[in-house]
Amino acid sequence: MKGLILSGGKGTRMRPITHTAAKQLLPVANKPILFYGIEALKAAGIYDFGIIVSPETGEDVKKMVGNGDRWGIRIEYIMQDQPLGLAHAVKVARPFLGDAPFVMYLGDNLIKDGVAPLVDRFKSGHADAFILLKEVSNPSAFGVAQLNDDGRILCLEEKPAQPKSNLALVGVYLFNQNIHKAIDEIKPSRRGELEITDAIQHLINTGFHVDSHILSSWWLDTGKKDDMLEANRVVLDEMTEATMEGAIDGNTRISGRVQVGKGSKLTHCTVRGPAVIGENCALEHSYVGPFTSIGDGARVSHAEIEHSILRENCRIVDFHGRVEDSLIGANVELTRSEHKPVAYRLMLGDDSKVEVI
Ligand code: TTP
Repeated sequence: MKGLILSGGKGTRMRPITHTAAKQLLPVANKPILFYGIEALKAAGIYDFGIIVSPETGEDVKKMVGNGDRWGIRIEYIMQDQPLGLAHAVKVARPFLGDAPFVMYLGDNLIKDGVAPLVDRFKSGHADAFILLKEVSNPSAFGVAQLNDDGRILCLEEKPAQPKSNLALVGVYLFNQNIHKAIDEIKPSRRGELEITDAIQHLINTGFHVDSHILSSWWLDTGKKDDMLEANRVVLDEMTEATMEGAIDGNTRISGRVQVGKGSKLTHCTVRGPAVIGENCALEHSYVGPFTSIGDGARVSHAEIEHSILRENCRIVDFHGRVEDSLIGANVELTRSEHKPVAYRLMLGDDSKVEVI
């Protein structure tokens, strides 16, 4: 069984962060989202990985992920010149996949229980494709499946305006080689993409066996800022260990599960977990509240932050008002200026969003 992880795409819903960074490398609890997928597949006994990358972010993905040695897996990178759909990504990966069965995993997805039980079920069954479904409140944002009373799939639709059910397709799919012929026979959708839902529908229409399972545990699709914050909240909520590899002074109060990385120093701070603080951070006279991840090299001074993700090397200094519900890119500075006239002075990338009090 091979693993195909999709780490290309445009990431338009996460701009401006994705103008300069791959969505799949954004940190959840200070670990790139993509690593959760790799680890889930490895835990399912998969060692042969293909990772789909784009011309824009492929080099960053390769640099961050490497050749797989750190997990004891083999990784081949597969360039998809344009994000022409999930089924297109499978087509581009055909030389890597050959006729092997494979798990396709969307690189911006997280699922609680991993994929090992699903891989076992697929291996021991006779299905040509196996999809995962999850009840959601906003099915129009996803691929949606309609099942009959026996639980067999009747039809699949991509982002339907009038969904026939509330069962969304989770970003983990298992296929045997029959998917390739189905992909060869479908046409691009109205949005110009080769849709994996159309390919699976084609399998159903031509008599192949498509099985499904409805997930009861959490699944997170981190397409937008609030999804990232929710993923960070859920993963931190499940974090069991508090670790202290840095140094704190006698005036710092830490409560709950908090992890502090090597070389970090906290003075006169209050930290309420669950929270993670990376390596070589300097925090002083500050408050860090629950569900916060602070990346390596951060400086936070006379500031308050809660329920947020800060990427590496950010500076938040003398900042009035609490930073909350925020996703902050690498090397960002939030400071207070003494210059007159008193004013907001901003340098924001395209598509940035700022809310002030
Ligand atoms: P999406 O989130 O559906 O697409 P996107 O990443 O382009 O984001 P947006 O809709 O905000 O523009 O993609 C799901 C995953 O699949 C994500 O990890 C990117 C990846 N992907 C590819 O690798 N190739 C593709 O052609 C597409 C459409 C997605």
